[in-house]
Amino acid sequence: MGPPFAAPRLRGDALFACLIRSPTENKASSARDSRRRYRLLERVSLALMMLLSATVSAAKLSLGPYVQDVGIDSFVVVVETDASASVTVEVGDSDKANIATLTSQGTWHEIRVAGLKAKSSYRYRVLVGGVDYGGGTVATAPLLTDDAPINFAVYGDSRDGRDIERAIVEKVIADGAELVLHTGDLVRQGDLDSEWRDFLKAEAPLMANIPLYPTLGNHEIYRDDEAKNFRHYFVLPDGGRKQLYYSFRYGPARFFVLDGNQTDDERYAHKKGVSSVQTQWLANALDAADQEGGVRHLFVLVHQPPFSTGGHCGSAELESDWVALFERHRVRAVFGGHDHAYQRLERNGIRYFDSGGGGSSIYRERPGCPAFDQAARRVYVKAFHYLRVRVAGDLVKVSAVAPDGSIIEEVEYDREARGGSSPELVDERIWPRALRIGAAVGLACLLLFLGARRLRRKVRKS
Ligand SMILES: [Fe+2]
Repeated sequence: MGPPFAAPRLRGDALFACLIRSPTENKASSARDSRRRYRLLERVSLALMMLLSATVSAAKLSLGPYVQDVGIDSFVVVVETDASASVTVEVGDSDKANIATLTSQGTWHEIRVAGLKAKSSYRYRVLVGGVDYGGGTVATAPLLTDDAPINFAVYGDSRDGRDIERAIVEKVIADGAELVLHTGDLVRQGDLDSEWRDFLKAEAPLMANIPLYPTLGNHEIYRDDEAKNFRHYFVLPDGGRKQLYYSFRYGPARFFVLDGNQTDDERYAHKKGVSSVQTQWLANALDAADQEGGVRHLFVLVHQPPFSTGGHCGSAELESDWVALFERHRVRAVFGGHDHAYQRLERNGIRYFDSGGGGSSIYRERPGCPAFDQAARRVYVKAFHYLRVRVAGDLVKVSAVAPDGSIIEEVEYDREARGGSSPELVDERIWPRALRIGAAVGLACLLLFLGARRLRRKVRKS
C-alpha cells in the first residue's frame, strides 16, 4: 500500500515530504507526530491562504463603480471584477466618519448601502484585494414630504456619439443634477456587450455619484429581444428589471418610465399598439399617484414619443391609450427620444419634449408627419443637447442646453392647462401609402394581363 499523501511528493517540498510517514512509524511516536502534523497542517493552511490571497489580489476592477437605485435611505454600488474577488465598499458620512464596511464575493457585485438618512451626502470607496479604486459621493433622495426644489437632467440617443455624450456628462455634473433620466437608445446594438461598457465608461464620472434611470429604446433590444444586457447592467426600482417599465418617487415628483416597444400582438414589433398589460399598470400607477401624499408632479418617459415631426414622426396612434391617461392625470411633461433633435410639443395642455440629441447623428425635421404631430409642434431644433429640468413648487422650468453650455430654448410653466387644436390620433398617412401600394400592384397586374393576352394572340396567329 502506497503512502496516503503521495501527490505532494511531486513538488519535492520538505514541508509535504514530512507528511508521508508510514502508519508503522506513526504508531511508534504517535504523540510527537501528532504535534508535528498539527504544526505542518497549520503551515499548509497558511500557505494555501497566502496562495488564495495572492490569487484574489490579482483580480482587478473591470467596470464601475457606479450607483443605482438611490432611495431615501439607501443606494446600490455596482462593480465588476475581472476574476472572482472579495470587494469591499467603505461608506462615510459628511463628517468623514466611516459608517459602514460592506463586502461582496464574485465577479459581479451589487452592494446595497442601507440605513441612511434622507437628503444626505455619503462618500464611498471601493477596494479590491486591498487596492483602492476610488468611489464617489452620493446624495440620498429627499423625504416624500419634502417639497424643496429638485433638478434633474434628461437626454437620450447617445448610441455611438460618445464624444458628445461625454461633453453632456460634464455639463450635467456642473449643473448639480440630482438624477439623470435617459430617454433610450443608450447603445447602437443591444447584444454587443462592448457597447454597454462604452456607454458606462462615457457616463462613469456622472454615474459614480448620480443615479441614471434608463428608458428601454429600440436599439437596446436590437438583436437582444429579451433585453438581457439592459436588465444586467441596471438595478431598477419597482420590478423594472423584470417588466422593463417602472415608476419611482423623487421628492415632490413621481416618474413613470415606459417601454414603448412592447405590444400585445408581437412583443417587440410596433404594430397594433402598446401592450394592454403595461397600459393597465400605468393606469393603476397614475391612480395611486393621485392619492399619494406630497406628489405635485407626474413625469413620463417613453423612447418613442407620442408626438414628433422628426424622422419617425409620433407614435400617438399606437400610444393613444397612454395619451388619454396623460391628459386625464395632468402629467406635467412627457419626455421622449428616438428622433434625434430637440422638440417641444403640446397637446391638450400636456407638454411633450423630444430629447434625442445625446450623441447620435442629428435628424432633420420631416415634412408630412400626421396632422396630430403637426398640430402639437411648437419648436424643432436640429441640435445636440440635453434638458436641464428644475422643479420648484408648481413651476417646471425646462432648458434645452447645447453641449457647449449655450441655451437653445428655455420654457417655464405652471399647472395651468393650455388649449390648442387636437386632431384625432390617426395616422392618415397610412391610407395614401396603402393606396399608392395598391395602385402599383394593380398596374403591375394589368400590364401582366395585357402582355399575356398579346402573347396569346401572337401564338394563335402563328
Ligand atoms: Fe430609437
